[in-house]
Amino acid sequence: MSERTKRHASIETLDTGLGARDRGKVADALVPVLADSYILLIKTHVYHWNVVGQHFLPLHELTEAHYTNLFAAVDEIAERIRSLGKRAPLSLSALRDKASVEEETVNRTAEEMVAHLVDDHEQLTKRLREAALLADESDDLVTADLLTQRLAFHEKAIWMLRAILGKA
Ligand SMILES: [Fe+2]
Repeated sequence: MSERTKRHASIETLDTGLGARDRGKVADALVPVLADSYILLIKTHVYHWNVVGQHFLPLHELTEAHYTNLFAAVDEIAERIRSLGKRAPLSLSALRDKASVEEETVNRTAEEMVAHLVDDHEQLTKRLREAALLADESDDLVTADLLTQRLAFHEKAIWMLRAILGKA
C-alpha cells in the first residue's frame, strides 16, 4: 500500500480544513436531526393516507409535498454524516431512540393531524437551529448551509399547515 493510499485509508486523516473533533461534533448533532426528520416523514405519510373530512384534499396534497421533501432531506442529512466521517444510524429503532418527534398511534381528525404536524415541525426547527449554529461555530459551512435550508422548509411548512386551519 502506498503512503498516499495509507493516508486516505483512515478517516482521521481527512484533510478538508475541518478538524476530526469538529467533524465528529457536527456529525453527532446531525443524528437527532436525521431521527426527527425520519419520524416526521413517516408521520406525514401516515396522515397522507388516513386524513378524512373537509380538509382532505389540501392536506392529502400538502402532506405528499412534505413527505417527498423529507425523504430527499433524510438522504442528504445521512450522506452529510458520512462525508464528515461518521457512520449513519443502522435501524429505525436507532433513529427512534434519538428522536424527539413521536410516532402516531391513533386515528385523528384532520385538525388534530395539522396541530400535531405543526408541533413536530416546530420541535424540529429548534433542533435544526441548534445544530446549524454548532456547525457554523465549527466552521462547517456545508452543514450550516444544509441545515439553514432545512430550517426554511420547516418554517414554510408551519405557515402552510396553519393556513389550512385558517390561522394567520
Ligand atoms: Fe399518495
